[in-house]
Amino acid sequence: MSSSPADPSILKPGSRSPKPVVVWTAIGLVCLSIIWTLRDLSPRMTSSEVIGDPLSPDKVPLVTGEEPFIDLFTHAGCAVCHVIPGIPGANGHVGPPLILGTTGTQRLTDPTYHGEAKTVHEYIVESVLDPQQFVVQGYPEHTMPTWYGSKLSASALEKIAVYLERQTAEH
Ligand code: HEC
Repeated sequence: MSSSPADPSILKPGSRSPKPVVVWTAIGLVCLSIIWTLRDLSPRMTSSEVIGDPLSPDKVPLVTGEEPFIDLFTHAGCAVCHVIPGIPGANGHVGPPLILGTTGTQRLTDPTYHGEAKTVHEYIVESVLDPQQFVVQGYPEHTMPTWYGSKLSASALEKIAVYLERQTAEH
């Protein structure tokens, strides 16, 4: 037995298809999914902004050297990664504590040190401008930002070096 032909009423030109209820349900679903996507996306975008590198160069202001001592280290972001004696809030442990009065000579006499610096002062300047020159053992390389040369004025860097070369573990 051959199957009966399709119901001719479906093909009738005047038949209202699809039904309005179907259309409205579809529109409703599309709207819901858009709202859902936005609802889902917005917190993710904000959190990635917050987690995203807070020390990208465009977020760090130019440090002129005119600002108070504490600001030299907090505005430049050093405090996020380093413990710095005398600087409130400088308690980062990403990099070594900046007690170059104690550690500076050890770096210069380290057999693996091949930089240009002859004094602790020069070593600090070099460490800030060219961090890859010497990577302190036990700390990650490519982590200390390499763009400070364009963010610290010569006077700011000079003040930073003068301050850090005096800091010792005893503080
Ligand atoms: C994102 C984290 C980070 C920031 C921000 C940062 N540093 Fe560092 N710094 C490191 C790490 C990690 C090291 C160790 C690895 C190396 O030697 O490159 C380091 C090493 C150093 C050293 C060598 C220390 C030693 O004991 O020999 C000095 C000096 C230094 N940083 C100064 C600064 C100053 C000044 C600033 C701000 C202008 C700063 N750092 C900002 C992560 C950072």
